[in-house]
Amino acid sequence: MKILILFDVARPADPNETFSARSLKEEDKPTEADVLRCLKHLGHEAETLAVFDNVAAIVEKLKGYAPDVVFNLSESFYHDRSHEPDIPALLELMKVRYTGSGPEALLLCKDKALAKKVLAYHRVRLPRFVVSSRVRPLRRLRRFIYPAFVKPVNEESSDGISQASFVRMEDEAIERARFIHQKFNCDALIEEYIEGRELYLSVLGNNRLTVCPPREIFFEQVTEDAPKFATFYAKWNDAYRKKWGIKNAAAGPLPDGIQENLTRLARRIYRLLKIRGFGRIDVRLTPKGEVFVIEANPNPSLAQDEDFARAAAEAGMGYDALIQQILDAAFV
Ligand SMILES: Nc1ncnc2c1ncn2[C@@H]1O[C@H](COP(=O)(O)OP(=O)(O)O)[C@@H](O)[C@H]1O
Ligand SMILES: [Mg+2]
Repeated sequence: MKILILFDVARPADPNETFSARSLKEEDKPTEADVLRCLKHLGHEAETLAVFDNVAAIVEKLKGYAPDVVFNLSESFYHDRSHEPDIPALLELMKVRYTGSGPEALLLCKDKALAKKVLAYHRVRLPRFVVSSRVRPLRRLRRFIYPAFVKPVNEESSDGISQASFVRMEDEAIERARFIHQKFNCDALIEEYIEGRELYLSVLGNNRLTVCPPREIFFEQVTEDAPKFATFYAKWNDAYRKKWGIKNAAAGPLPDGIQENLTRLARRIYRLLKIRGFGRIDVRLTPKGEVFVIEANPNPSLAQDEDFARAAAEAGMGYDALIQQILDAAFV
């Protein structure tokens, strides 16, 4: 197959610049590097296009190269993540096939408050929540339950998540919401804090869905009674992860029946939020065995050492098979 890997960069890009797996690594694009290497290994013909702000360059490249399918790894435009849905929207208009989710799922899930409203309508168990709007910030939280958790409605990868996201009283919650309004220029979600294990459910497919064995984030050196959640540091800072014994791995043993519940739930959320190709559903499992949905991620990271690819490997699907399946799903 002829494949165009489309990805975003945070600087003006020359549409004629070509990338190798090595230059992608140097550019801090590990997923793109892994996918490019894998596509070549699978025997496909692959080219790259880095996108910053040039719509015409996308259109011209698609016309000139005429790929069978676009491997869509773009997450922003003009360095702005709110444009993530617009890239597949453009591909739809041009009738070009592409991997992963379409504009619907990306739009729905990028606004966490909107995704939660859809799921709440379908009676999915979620942390209770209120939204503090940037233009009219909440000044009181009537009868909210503490501790609570405050996060930006439309950031990703734990941007805006720190120890201060965990709040024990109203004043702290209001203050953190204000901080989010200012720093991220967006609305803030104030949620019930869900104590428990954090599990990641990787789902593949369109009609028939495969759910891989769950992954889990472990906090081995964090004291028993301290709240444990994935702050920006806990996710991305290797020294911090080492210090606190934070690691992502195959989930530990689950109570009876939970695995089946999780599989059913993951499929249901995936369909309700119109995710296509591949997606990851993040949940928390309380000590009582209740499962709360935290977040759904269309187009999660496909880097070979991250949870999605690891989960697929644990389901018996090596990286080549995973990438091929994602390509195949673009034709269904
Ligand atoms: N309601 C909640 N209760 C407990 N922890 C939460 C809650 N919401 C988010 N978290 C923690 O914060 C992390 C990041 O939140 P999430 O909504 O997944 O945003 P992101 O898109 O940045 O991954 C989660 O992985 C989890 O550890
Ligand atoms: Mg998340």
